[in-house]
Amino acid sequence: MIIAIDGPAASGKGTIARRLAAHFGLPHLDTGLLYRATARVLLDEGSRLDDVDKAVSAARGLALLDFDEERLRGREMGEAASVVAAIPEVRAALIDMQRVFAARPQGAVLDGRDIGTVIAPAAQVKIFVTASAETRAQRRALELRGRGERVDYASILEDIRKRDQRDSERSDAPLKPAEDAKILDTTDLNIEAAFAAALAMVDAAGPRL
Ligand code: C5P
Repeated sequence: MIIAIDGPAASGKGTIARRLAAHFGLPHLDTGLLYRATARVLLDEGSRLDDVDKAVSAARGLALLDFDEERLRGREMGEAASVVAAIPEVRAALIDMQRVFAARPQGAVLDGRDIGTVIAPAAQVKIFVTASAETRAQRRALELRGRGERVDYASILEDIRKRDQRDSERSDAPLKPAEDAKILDTTDLNIEAAFAAALAMVDAAGPRL
């Protein structure tokens, strides 16, 4: 069974994906980390984020196992990731790795922006997780403060809106629900309720393969 979870930043998709993976005993890939890690390599080597050749070799050189999540999760990296993620050649360089992960015999859970539309269009379950920009900004501010970053709500809200716009308007694999995705709006749900709703969607998809 492939479970595809897509949605904008701070919608809750990552937590839902992790919990579904644990529940069903499936491997999980947070595909945002691939774009974050690509951007990290460029920043570390002093390259520009829009240098296509450097970005493609950074993407090709990634090894899934040696991600240092601590250095990829911060605010700056989400923004930088969305810049490299708009480069079609970078997306192309990362497709095979994601498809190989999705094709594991036991199945997999992947979360990102284009899992249901591009990476695994045949996924048995597709959920598009969303929430209002204000709610997502509040969640992100809490999360970043928890990591020790000094942030203010207004600028986080601005970041979220900017990132939504960049991700939705890019030409290649824009952020949008697959036609057959179920929409899960978590604006008024806590994580337990959101997870329960996602689980019900998986169950409604029928017997597991
Ligand atoms: O999900 P996360 O916030 O870690 O993603 C960071 C950025 O990576 C997103 O804003 C988006 O631009 C890009 N991304 C993408 N496709 C994916 C996952 C992430 O374009 N499947």
